[in-house]
Amino acid sequence: MAYFSKGAFAFTALLLAIGWWFSASAHEFHDYYSDYPNFPPSLPSGHQPDEDINGSPPDSYPTKSCSFCIVATLQPPAYDVRPYRFDEATCAAIQQKISDFMNSLLEAANIYVFSPFVPTDCSGTQLNVCGAFNGSDVAAVHNVKKALQQQLPVFLELASDNDICQPQLEGYQVVISTEQFVEHRCLDDLSPSSKHCDPWAPFPSCSPSCRCDKNQGVLPYTVSPNWYTQPGNIRWGRNVTEYCFTVNTVDSSQLKPSSCYSVSDALAKIEWSAEDTLRSAVRGFTVYPAGGPMKTIADSWGATGTDTLKVTLNWTEEQANGGVVCVAIQNHITMSNLCKTGYGQCYVSIYNSYKSGSCCPTYRTGPPRQ
Ligand SMILES: *[C@@H]1O[C@H](CO)[C@@H](O)[C@H](O)[C@H]1NC(C)=O
Ligand SMILES: *[C@@H]1O[C@H](CO)[C@@H](O)[C@H](O)[C@H]1NC(C)=O
Ligand SMILES: *[C@@H]1O[C@H](CO)[C@@H](O)[C@H](O)[C@H]1NC(C)=O
Repeated sequence: MAYFSKGAFAFTALLLAIGWWFSASAHEFHDYYSDYPNFPPSLPSGHQPDEDINGSPPDSYPTKSCSFCIVATLQPPAYDVRPYRFDEATCAAIQQKISDFMNSLLEAANIYVFSPFVPTDCSGTQLNVCGAFNGSDVAAVHNVKKALQQQLPVFLELASDNDICQPQLEGYQVVISTEQFVEHRCLDDLSPSSKHCDPWAPFPSCSPSCRCDKNQGVLPYTVSPNWYTQPGNIRWGRNVTEYCFTVNTVDSSQLKPSSCYSVSDALAKIEWSAEDTLRSAVRGFTVYPAGGPMKTIADSWGATGTDTLKVTLNWTEEQANGGVVCVAIQNHITMSNLCKTGYGQCYVSIYNSYKSGSCCPTYRTGPPRQ
């Protein structure tokens, strides 16, 4: 019963509940179910179970199944130009922790479980964990609900990889909610929990000279959420590390309409929010246009006080699609030290022109993920 769809889950949960009612135990029912894939036959009317799970005749049948799914959702920004999705391993890890929590909660509360909480769906933007248990004891269900409500922020941390402000999640909202099966509602007032990263200090921090449209998605160029490092010794001498930023392109159908971009505008330049005081640690750039020869370029800076490191590229879309720009920095100073963003991350702005009035969509980037 590992991975199956929500519909199939609801069906199975219902069957398990009926199965308990109908036969001696959920476990036997399980075997029954696997023997008869075309289940259910219609319930014989007037059928009364003979025994409960302990083998003694029950006095009444108050058992109501409480069945629901815990759902983690990634809500991308309107212009999702740097898509982040759950991969299978991420889903599985999060789902395992949520299942474990729910199952031990039910076990500790000594509540009869019809169907343990298990991973069900995993699409890139949503994952589900579903289960069903005895919902007859109102006080017990209330306690489960209370414990679950308190746990939602923990699930939120899990779903955002413990850092809602990581660059992958820039502009995203992460939500934990529950989805109930109409017939088995039991969590009526459980409120969803959600989280996003609040905006940080702006970059470029615009004086009139840098008036530009900073919105993400206004240009068909983005920079990947994480930089990577490589030794810079061959080109820059001893103790130099290159911090490399991969550029990607976005299909024109996904762009945010703007007045700053004209079709086939080049990627003119990239700017980083970087500490003026660390200028001397920067050796220069190594740039690798896609499909073209690499070259080294001297570092260039904005006026003192603007804390801006820049490189001129003039790349076509073809050169930008998979192109790489590396900043060569003297060791002991790292990219995270150089950047003014804080949190060890960097603001990177991408320009389509050298003049004011251009586009300058700005993205956060960070060190390689652990
Ligand atoms: C479900 O809970 C009710 C109330 O506590 C109890 O009477 C009933 O036996 C339970 N059913 C099962 C299958 O545990
Ligand atoms: C370069 O690295 C060597 C060996 O790690 C070290 O002894 C030296 O001090 C470093 N020089 C600079 C300028 O960081
Ligand atoms: C940018 O490159 C194009 C050719 O791809 C060239 O025609 C143009 O003059 C260059 N612009 C600048 C400012 O260097």
